[in-house]
Amino acid sequence: MSGTTTGEKVTFTLNGRQVTAEPGETVLSVARRLDVHIPTLCFHESVSSYGACRLCLVEVFWGKRSKLVTSCLYIPYPDDRIETDNARIHGVRKLVLELLLARSPHVEAIRELAREYCVEVPRFRPSAVTADATRCVLCDLCVRVCAEVVGQSAIGYAGRGSERVITVPFGEQAEECIGCGACVFICPTQALSYEDIAGQRLMKELNTSVPLVACRVCGEHFATEKQLAKLRERITMPDELVDVCPRCRGTEFTRVLDEALVTKPRV
Ligand code: FES
Repeated sequence: MSGTTTGEKVTFTLNGRQVTAEPGETVLSVARRLDVHIPTLCFHESVSSYGACRLCLVEVFWGKRSKLVTSCLYIPYPDDRIETDNARIHGVRKLVLELLLARSPHVEAIRELAREYCVEVPRFRPSAVTADATRCVLCDLCVRVCAEVVGQSAIGYAGRGSERVITVPFGEQAEECIGCGACVFICPTQALSYEDIAGQRLMKELNTSVPLVACRVCGEHFATEKQLAKLRERITMPDELVDVCPRCRGTEFTRVLDEALVTKPRV
């Protein structure tokens, strides 16, 4: 259930305080704006909300009835009474963290959250897939950033239930992957990584490698060929600056500008 998206502001109660949400604004967004802490793992401002981790659960009350909802997705109704922390919420978050900790006991972000909720030893055992302590918690951030921000949709899922994993199509070299590393940077559990070796960017977990480009000025590898091609599609940049690394770009820009001024002097 989700509140109005009709373009009107909504007034509701958050932890006993009357607050106002902008049209279409979620409870999580309002809470963050007001410095009310709600734990999250699968949320990031740069991509759409997905509701995978369930850590951001809050309780909505209507008279004597109440319901737990994910605050990253829930848009409040007028007169909702919402609590962001109470015994019921605490219990559910604790259970979620037990499951996450059983799956990925070495992930610092999860250990930290577990400490916050006094979870020490989870009651659950990892599945066959996660027995080797995977770092991936299927938060979907890599999938969303690749599709929504990079515009490539190179990453997806394989398997079902506890066997579900993040992967590229058929687990083979993903032609769609441009090696930009957005998935690596957004991953909250460091489940993905890349390494630049011998002129290639190797995305180990995605079984994919993408050729790198060396800076025309200093010779250092700084981006992939596909990344630069994508950049060209999106922004207008003088050709002379595309294959120059960010560090050398300033001096190169000045040189290009000087040359232009010399060859085409202002009248
Ligand atoms: S942050 Fe809302 S479900 Fe993960």
